[in-house]
Amino acid sequence: MEQKALLNLLKEMTLDEKIDQLQQLATHFFKGASEEGEITGPITEMGITEDVVLNTGSVLGASGATLTRNLQEAHLKENRLGIPLLFMADVIHGFKTIFPVPLAIGSSWDLELAEKSAEIAAKESAVSGVHVTFAPMVDLVRDPRWGRVMESTGEDPYLNSEYARAFVRGFQGNDLTNDKNHIAACVKHFAAYGAPEGGRDYNTVNMSERQLRELYLPSYKAALDEGCEMVMTAFNTVDGIPPSGNEYLMRDILRQEWGFNGVVISDWGAVKELIPHGVAQDEKEAAIKALRAGVDIEMMTTCYVHHVKSLILEGKLEESLLDESVLRILELKNKLGLFEDPYRGSSEALEKEVILSESHRKVARELATKSCVLLKNENILPLNSNQKIALIGPFAQSGDLMGPWSWHGAKEDVITVEMGIQNKVTEEKLLVAKGSDVLTIAEEQLQQAVETSKHADVIVLALGESSYMSGEGGSRADIRIPEAQLTLLNELKQLNKPIVTILFNGRPLDLHGVVEQSNAILEAWYPGTEGGAAIADLLFGDANPSGKLTMSFPYSVGQVPVYYNCYNTGRPFSKDDPDNRYVSKYIDIPNEPIFPFGFGLSYTTFEYSKHYISNNTLSADNPITVTVQVRNTGARAGEEIVQLYIRDITGEVVRPLKELKAFQKVALEANQTKTVSFTITEEQLRYYHRNLEFKSDNGLFEVYVGPNSSDVVAFTFTLV
Ligand code: BGC
Repeated sequence: MEQKALLNLLKEMTLDEKIDQLQQLATHFFKGASEEGEITGPITEMGITEDVVLNTGSVLGASGATLTRNLQEAHLKENRLGIPLLFMADVIHGFKTIFPVPLAIGSSWDLELAEKSAEIAAKESAVSGVHVTFAPMVDLVRDPRWGRVMESTGEDPYLNSEYARAFVRGFQGNDLTNDKNHIAACVKHFAAYGAPEGGRDYNTVNMSERQLRELYLPSYKAALDEGCEMVMTAFNTVDGIPPSGNEYLMRDILRQEWGFNGVVISDWGAVKELIPHGVAQDEKEAAIKALRAGVDIEMMTTCYVHHVKSLILEGKLEESLLDESVLRILELKNKLGLFEDPYRGSSEALEKEVILSESHRKVARELATKSCVLLKNENILPLNSNQKIALIGPFAQSGDLMGPWSWHGAKEDVITVEMGIQNKVTEEKLLVAKGSDVLTIAEEQLQQAVETSKHADVIVLALGESSYMSGEGGSRADIRIPEAQLTLLNELKQLNKPIVTILFNGRPLDLHGVVEQSNAILEAWYPGTEGGAAIADLLFGDANPSGKLTMSFPYSVGQVPVYYNCYNTGRPFSKDDPDNRYVSKYIDIPNEPIFPFGFGLSYTTFEYSKHYISNNTLSADNPITVTVQVRNTGARAGEEIVQLYIRDITGEVVRPLKELKAFQKVALEANQTKTVSFTITEEQLRYYHRNLEFKSDNGLFEVYVGPNSSDVVAFTFTLV
């Protein structure tokens, strides 16, 4: 539809029809959602009329070609102006083919595969009638107590931004109007939802605007630069004001400064939550604040439909504000081609062909393989198929490998660890016992596990958190493996057999204890539908681990937040003077995380040599190059993620000890050497100054190259 036609449509709409476009309701409100077409129950709960539902702009959570087609058909039959519904859903890391959780995808450092996973998720969703996904979630995270860290790609602003771009490209493709295999993306949760105090979900966020801009905003901006169509507001406060009513954040920064013209949606209920936050007295005030802030769609509360009309009629809100929002929603519908084809790419036949196809599963397996991180290996892994394996633990046979944000995935479609290993060894080589549940252990379970393990050469222990223990509302104060499973581990340790621990979890855990008791540890996160197959590939060396952490694993929860890009302080701890009390340290635990950012092992080894810097001075016109040779010194092929960090030694504002500026993933055959080279430009050295000016400072810098944020070789250069 031409823009002019859209404007005409807007003119034809009554005030009520316009306001109703801003409403988003869940599926069960709509006729066509059930055989009976019964909708009175939910409507009464919300205090809305059937008319509102008939004119509602968008639906949350509907999927499946049959359902979405029925809903759209029923809607269009009764909608006066024939404005189609927009179907939105949480397709976070896969639709039915579930990929590893984003924190795991982060650990792959594989932007191409990340993009591919989003493309597949989009395709499966599109044939099921979904038009918009509430993804990517690009909140930077530093506190593993927060359950939602599994939805993020980690603690680094540069890496998060790269992933944000990759996911948006994957979901949206290049032409949403004509290419019906892609869907619109909605970046969330704007802004800084990833920094709740104490790691408690929905809690207050407190930081300076400088930190906000330096660490938290870049990934949202990156998604928008890549063309992301929508933005979702966050639940938290930003400098004391929740985003859903924060004009500075949502108008001044997002729309004016960044030029974003797309649709903003509130998070679930976030408009009405302006009241308990304490910035709106009632729904009426919440509606004023949210619309003024430019929140176009109100998700699942009804402040707009109840109050915007009277506010406009009383002269307290300008109708032009409403028109702006409605137009943005109509524009998105138009961009998705819904006026011409309200059913878009949905098709039952295509669902059968596309969903969970072999090729999709193959990518899921590959990404899962690359997302696992080998944290420890005392020459136990890889296993060989002649060894007798005791597979023990609550995750040995569990289908709970998809994580908490995988609504559409089905446990029955998951390859469990047991199934994965069964494909690698003969029946008599695999003994299985549960050993414990996730949170409890019975004496018989334990005894059975001990007996089973006695007959094995090696114990593979599948431990972790159930998916319920992370995700939204899944904050934990104690981030250890549950006690029952630690008991299991400790008891099995008595057998003096090698123990390989595989971990399933949505956050960095406190692993001290587990690390000492295990001879090898593979962090598998929630690896998704193909999890068990990928893990078996890794266990038996059919694939070589290459993942590296993108979020630090604390030594214990007492260190949290612990992250690599921290400041030095005026009294840094020094290993040369370990007993000095008056330095920044704990007297009972180390300062360092147990596993740092960027860390991960391989079955082969890599040697870094011939470090070289092309020049010791850098200027705006003369970038410099840092080069290093990486050699695979082991006996098998492997992939190494070579990382480059920078430190500005003296800034106007204190600069982090290290900042990731670039990385390269290199594949090396046994004995092969490759030269890896990075260019450093003045632009990479810019940061937000006290007055929020974004610029670089002349002076001394350090640059580090290495396999993780801790083991690096340093050079210096001067910016002139
Ligand atoms: C979550 C969002 C999600 C929305 C819709 C909210 O509770 O915070 O991330 O997209 O629900 O399901």
